[in-house]
Amino acid sequence: MTKKKLYIKTYGCQMNIYDSLRMEDVMRPFGYESCNEPAGADMVILNTCHIREKAAEKVYSELGRIKREKDKNKKMIIAVAGCVGQAEGDEIFRRAPYVDVVVGPQSYQSLPDLVGKVQRESGHAINLEFEDDKFDQLPEEHAPQGVSGILSIQEGCDKFCTFCVVPYTRGAEYSRDVPAIYREAIKLVANGAKEITLLGQNVNAFHGSDWNLGQLIEHISKIEGLERIRYSTPHPRDMHEDLYKQHWNNPKLMPFLNLPVQSGSNRILEKMNRKHKRDDYFKIIDRIREKRTDMQFSSDFIIGFPGETDQDFEDTMDLARRVGFVQGYSFKYSPRPGTPGADMDDQVPEEVKNERLQRFQALVNEQQLAYNKSCIGKVMPVLFEKPAKYAGQIVGRSEYMQSVTVEGGEELIGRIADVEVTAGRGNSLGGVVTD
Ligand code: 5AD
Ligand code: SF4
Repeated sequence: MTKKKLYIKTYGCQMNIYDSLRMEDVMRPFGYESCNEPAGADMVILNTCHIREKAAEKVYSELGRIKREKDKNKKMIIAVAGCVGQAEGDEIFRRAPYVDVVVGPQSYQSLPDLVGKVQRESGHAINLEFEDDKFDQLPEEHAPQGVSGILSIQEGCDKFCTFCVVPYTRGAEYSRDVPAIYREAIKLVANGAKEITLLGQNVNAFHGSDWNLGQLIEHISKIEGLERIRYSTPHPRDMHEDLYKQHWNNPKLMPFLNLPVQSGSNRILEKMNRKHKRDDYFKIIDRIREKRTDMQFSSDFIIGFPGETDQDFEDTMDLARRVGFVQGYSFKYSPRPGTPGADMDDQVPEEVKNERLQRFQALVNEQQLAYNKSCIGKVMPVLFEKPAKYAGQIVGRSEYMQSVTVEGGEELIGRIADVEVTAGRGNSLGGVVTD
């Protein structure tokens, strides 16, 4: 049987990247294999993100481009999946009638049924149910992911930060059972993964099989051949004793963490409904560093949340300086329809947001560059992942998530080798393999 071609375009977070892999798994038994462009594809899935502005608009303009391919091949199935699918629902069929299928992040296991329905009956098919047993319905067999694998362990969120769409698009907090996670981890390692990143929107709220994240990490770190464990994205409120202990004592848990703080101002944190203060954040950082002195942090920041004054913004700058982040993701506040923040009447003017964002990014970039430069002369273990942009070079990651490029052959890929750092740049390190 000739295979049918499936093209998936992924937007947004790592959870979406994971979901796209699982969508491939779901369609594979029905004769679909992945391809790299929409031209000539039998099915196109846009796996979308709704976290910030213009997400939906971007999807509609991409759909316009895909439609031109469908005009050449009338049988092409077009599906919109992910968080825009969840948020827009039927509206997508109204604005883009050539879309065949809409699914949300919790219902893509039904893609084959929906595609079958469209092919049998023509017309549109949609499923936006929040199904807790999504993971149970996904095939156990899935494609190997390579040297560094991602594994979803938790989804959704019950925290309702006032800026965030996640509780609406991904639904209530849900944790997978430990045995299923463990089996998936073993498969990733058997297929060559040396590193696994455990994923969840609120990953340290994990409570599958009544275990916490600390206990899960301890268990998974016993898998032979697995060298590195990371988790993403935690919430300051859900740090717990077992997790601190893993940071202190488990050499497989990497000494780098992206721990979103969003703002350095207590007033804004409260308006954001974060349920933590800036001092709570400092305490977490200090507590981990107390016994893991080399621990480094990055964070997510929202600049220009409603009501943010110059002083509130300076508090965020100050927090960033005090922690000394070695990376950072900062975004202008973007009002999301349906969230409380969008209805607040003290929205910050666009020019102010732009100016603050620029200053903030300059600060974090400066900190990142200083840290990368401070690594020159050090020897660091690097997990090599793939060929770099230039021929004869291979790129990997340090324990602190820095991208590291060396001269070398493909035999390095999948290996952890010591590298002497010779260059520290804004976004990466250069070095020489020493072993
Ligand atoms: N506007 C801007 N940034 C946002 N984020 C989430 N919601 C919004 C919003 N409405 C950012 C947060 C979060 C990251 C994934 O996206 O910083 O941690
Ligand atoms: Fe985007 Fe959030 Fe959905 Fe991830 S969960 S795709 S970040 S809206």
